[in-house]
Amino acid sequence: MKNFVFQNPTKLVFGKGEIARLPELLPENVNLMLTFGGGSVKRNCVYDQVKEALKGRNYIEFWGIEPNPHVETLRKAIQLGKENKIDYLLAVGGGSVLDGTKLIAAGIASEKEAWDIVLEGYAPEQIAFASVMTVPATGSEMNGAAVISRDETKEKYGFFGDYPRFSILDPEVTYSLSEHQIACGLADAFTHVMEQYMTTTGQSRIMDRWAEGVLSSIIEIAPKIKENPHDYDLMADYMLAATLALNDFIRMGITQDWATHNIGHELTALHGTTHGHSLAIVLPGLLRVLKPQKQAKLVQYGERIFGITTGTDEERANKAIALTEAFYRSLGLTTRLSEEGIGEETIEIIAKRFNERGAAYGENQNVTGEVTREILESCLPPYTLS
Ligand code: NZQ
Ligand code: ZN
Repeated sequence: MKNFVFQNPTKLVFGKGEIARLPELLPENVNLMLTFGGGSVKRNCVYDQVKEALKGRNYIEFWGIEPNPHVETLRKAIQLGKENKIDYLLAVGGGSVLDGTKLIAAGIASEKEAWDIVLEGYAPEQIAFASVMTVPATGSEMNGAAVISRDETKEKYGFFGDYPRFSILDPEVTYSLSEHQIACGLADAFTHVMEQYMTTTGQSRIMDRWAEGVLSSIIEIAPKIKENPHDYDLMADYMLAATLALNDFIRMGITQDWATHNIGHELTALHGTTHGHSLAIVLPGLLRVLKPQKQAKLVQYGERIFGITTGTDEERANKAIALTEAFYRSLGLTTRLSEEGIGEETIEIIAKRFNERGAAYGENQNVTGEVTREILESCLPPYTLS
């Protein structure tokens, strides 16, 4: 195990009706701005709950943070925040609203241009922020990451900074999510675990078992959620799984991959592919191409997650990859570029972009533009059950 420092300061407030706790969680005497997406919170009454909880408090509102939040929109929120001397932000929405809010928090705290903060990859100063999270997927509610898009150049990058002061997670807010949103959320959470787990064996028993616990739970609840998306306990497990998948707990002292996310962000930036869906396409391709270096872990994963105990190591690894792709498909997602009308032209653009930026992703820093080309090429042929 590598040396590590672990500190996750976010207070997680979990459960039915917990939005009502906002007054005790938000400090008095702050200049508060609430941030929102396009209006889902008005349709599912989350906004009403927040308004009721904040009765008697002064605050301003910023609406319109879109999915895959655009820096162009966030600049307007930063300006509004500065004009109103805002020193506390409350994001009410999904990962996009919270990620956008993390950049607003950084933009208000400094004189830097918002996109420069993203490109620097780290925000040394941010005003305080917290969230009422409405989509289980990104883990943004309990981590220091944010992913921002620049519409005019079709680019999408992440940066790191502070963690939310608190996040309220009420599983009942998920009842208004569509089947596709849930599929993308489950795929995102599952892939987050895989990005931290699917490297090499023998780094940490405890991290392996923890990650495998989250993976198995997601596989167990996914078909049940399809049957009954309004089952409180199922949605509670889904919500907590998504948080645990990316709140630093399962990555103490181990190497990590993250190449799938970097490639997936390109598909989103260029084609608008929903984040979780982009990962369902890329991860099986990445595993096919990087099988030699990940084979031992694939064998462990195949046995512990899917009960694969026979065959040569290579056969077992192949089976584990096939079952991973089948899992994404069972959610209702396509897993091939050709099914999304994405072809060679896009692969060429992504390979070129990665070559230009000297990309070298993955635990061995060997996922270059050319390896990415190979990964995406392997996602072109039509899907066949293997
Ligand atoms: O905008 P509104 O009207 O609120 O509608 C949203 C949006 O259209 C809607 N929605 C939100 N809560 C809902 C709901 N609809 C019905 N019921 C509810 N309870 O859902 C749509 C998608 O929302 P979005 O916030 O974009 O989804 P998600 O939470 O999956 O966030 C995706 C973004 O997070 C980034 C992704 O790249 C993407 O930009 N990620 C952030 C990470 C992080 N901060 O650590 C890590 C992830 O890997 C990911 O990259
Ligand atoms: Zn993700």
